[in-house]
Amino acid sequence: MRKELLIEFQEIFEQSPEYQSFAPGRVNLIGEHTDYTGGYVFPVALDIGTYALGRKRPDRIFRFFSINEPEQGIVEIDGDWEYRKNHEWANYPKGVVSILMNHGYEMDKGMDILFYGNLPRGAGLSSSASIELAAAVLLDKAYGFHIERIKLLSCCREAENSYVGVNCGIMDQFIIGMGEKNRGLLLNTGDLTFQQIPLPLEEYRILIINSMVRRSLTDSGYNRCIEEAKAGEKVLKDQGIHQLRDLTPEDLPFVEKTINDAGIYGRIKHIITENHRTTEGAEKLRAVDFQGFGELMLESHQSLKEDFQVSIPQLDTLVQDSVNLGALGARMTGAGFGGCIVAIVPRTGVENFKEGIRKNYEKIYGLTPEIYLVNSSDGAKCKSIESEVEKR
Ligand code: GLA
Repeated sequence: MRKELLIEFQEIFEQSPEYQSFAPGRVNLIGEHTDYTGGYVFPVALDIGTYALGRKRPDRIFRFFSINEPEQGIVEIDGDWEYRKNHEWANYPKGVVSILMNHGYEMDKGMDILFYGNLPRGAGLSSSASIELAAAVLLDKAYGFHIERIKLLSCCREAENSYVGVNCGIMDQFIIGMGEKNRGLLLNTGDLTFQQIPLPLEEYRILIINSMVRRSLTDSGYNRCIEEAKAGEKVLKDQGIHQLRDLTPEDLPFVEKTINDAGIYGRIKHIITENHRTTEGAEKLRAVDFQGFGELMLESHQSLKEDFQVSIPQLDTLVQDSVNLGALGARMTGAGFGGCIVAIVPRTGVENFKEGIRKNYEKIYGLTPEIYLVNSSDGAKCKSIESEVEKR
């Protein structure tokens, strides 16, 4: 794979790359739609993600090319860093360059950058944050910025919020920047304190099943989720509640009385119960209780479906079939409206499981779901290609 990327780079840009980065995708095991009201999340960085290869240029021009989107051709930027809808995927790395420049990181020379990703796009595995971090660590290394990791990933989130225009929380960039192999990350998205929790998966596997219903965050109801959650949060803040994450399921009667809008109450109810499930889930994993963790995943799905209302029938079918086929737990993952579910499945039953899922889904929806058997991985990294060659 790496060799092929080197060759592609040479063919497209007619020179050799100097740096290579990899940024994982992520799957969120529990803690969904909690990260824009300062709640808890529990994502894992994956061994599938985005590769970026780059070389500085003698002039100030930046050129971006994606092997996944060859019809887009080379996107060339010569000083005009405005967001352009027709630049599509390239707006992500453009956003990162532009935000870093706004923060005072000077790039006196331009760069040629090639991207290749093996994450399905628009499937809820964070392909966009993966591109952002692959670009960010590459730029950080190539220009010798040595930006502190938390700052770098916050710049990537800023690129997504203010450049691309999706008001996402910090979860995706955080796990992609900070993930550790064989660990899940319990993150308090309010104060950014976090714990890396061991994931001793020996007897189990994480499977991700793609409903093949693609959604785009910019045109889905994602921003509406945020607006309504924030509206509910404000009503509670006006009543003296500092943080939604401080509320527990016991507070729900008070919350219901205070918020007199059924839709908004549903959003807030999910957030409160999900925060609780997420910290509890981390405790279960600490105790190596996968069964208990699986039950919380199922409750989470139910809450996303009934209270938060971002699931769709295809995702519900996949979750129900996962349970029927022996998964310890399963739930939709990511923003919802399409995309993937994640399931924890006993290692010995994986083949049967895959077959059963495919068969039933094809029968009902006439579509073959893609199934990814994933491993955890470290966060985004960049290395210099020359130095690696010299070392050999
Ligand atoms: C998307 C966003 C995340 C998070 C999830 C829902 O993936 O990018 O920040 O809000 O949806 O949990």
